[in-house]
Amino acid sequence: MVSSIEVRDLRRTYGDVIAVDGISFDVKEGEIFGLVGPNGAGKTTAVECVEGLRRPTSGRVRLLGLDPSRERLRVAERIGVQLQESALPPRLHVAEALALFGSFYRRPNNVDDLLDLLGLNEKRSAPFAKLSGGQKQRLFIALALVNRPEVVFFDELTTGLDPQARRSMWDLVRSIRDLGCTVVLTTHYMEEAERLCDRVMIVDRGRIVALDTPEALIGSLNINRRIVFGLPEGQDAASLAGLPTVSRIEQSDERVIVYGHGNHFAGSVVNAMEDAGLPFTDLRTEQPNLEDVFLLLTGREMRE
Ligand SMILES: Nc1ncnc2c1ncn2[C@@H]1O[C@H](COP(=O)(O)OP(=O)(O)OP(=O)(O)O)[C@@H](O)[C@H]1O
Ligand SMILES: [Mg+2]
Repeated sequence: MVSSIEVRDLRRTYGDVIAVDGISFDVKEGEIFGLVGPNGAGKTTAVECVEGLRRPTSGRVRLLGLDPSRERLRVAERIGVQLQESALPPRLHVAEALALFGSFYRRPNNVDDLLDLLGLNEKRSAPFAKLSGGQKQRLFIALALVNRPEVVFFDELTTGLDPQARRSMWDLVRSIRDLGCTVVLTTHYMEEAERLCDRVMIVDRGRIVALDTPEALIGSLNINRRIVFGLPEGQDAASLAGLPTVSRIEQSDERVIVYGHGNHFAGSVVNAMEDAGLPFTDLRTEQPNLEDVFLLLTGREMRE
């Protein structure tokens, strides 16, 4: 498999702050690659070093076989970048912005196609200043696609988008990839990373704490599954703790969460409750997900 991106021992500091602390990874051609991590983990800095927008303090980056900080223009022709924060002149219209940015490139995408793709047709004549937050976001995504990029970078792809727009963005990203484009994205939505990305890199304090497919990440940590149910006041679920499949029980008010593992976990808990005559209600099982992995690996306290 050909790599679109190769990063070796990348470091970037800002004065005393070590934003990226020696990371190495490859992004394969045609994959959707996600970076996740707490605020300030170094995701934007790392991505900007790969894009050539920031010079690494040390380390090596190859993007499409080029050195992005030395061959900035050649790289820019072939990649698309949606920045985490950006702005346009307030009076510039949506369609004008797309035509203007397209004019910088040799083979730009068609403006009408981009407007259709991002659902911005009705806003084609609206000035930038009068777009909603989500519409601005979609315009920046359209601008990232204006030059038919081979690699596209989305920093916080769906932050600020409503649930419909978020899901249609996932479809859009998949269709961009199906056209042969490599996609690198950062997100704070673990469901998004889990559903959309072929591989996910979890970054914390400038370092890689895990990198694998979402399934492998979730499977590797032996995270407990959960069974959640209601139990009327005065009833006690503590007896379930004796089951070999159960590792922990949380009971508060009329709600119980049982943590456990193994193929017979759910069955054994339900059987034991029926044998004991416990009148449980609204029982559901919850599979471990990427959010569990993320919280386990990066902790629960707030950063910065
Ligand atoms: N231009 C800058 N000058 C000085 N420090 C910076 C600069 N940009 C980022 N930093 C610092 O570098 C660290 C990493 O920031 P970065 O923006 O890369 O994190 P991030 O993972 O993208 O966070 P978020 O999820 O909040 O977007 C932080 O401690 C931040 O304060
Ligand atoms: Mg960021």
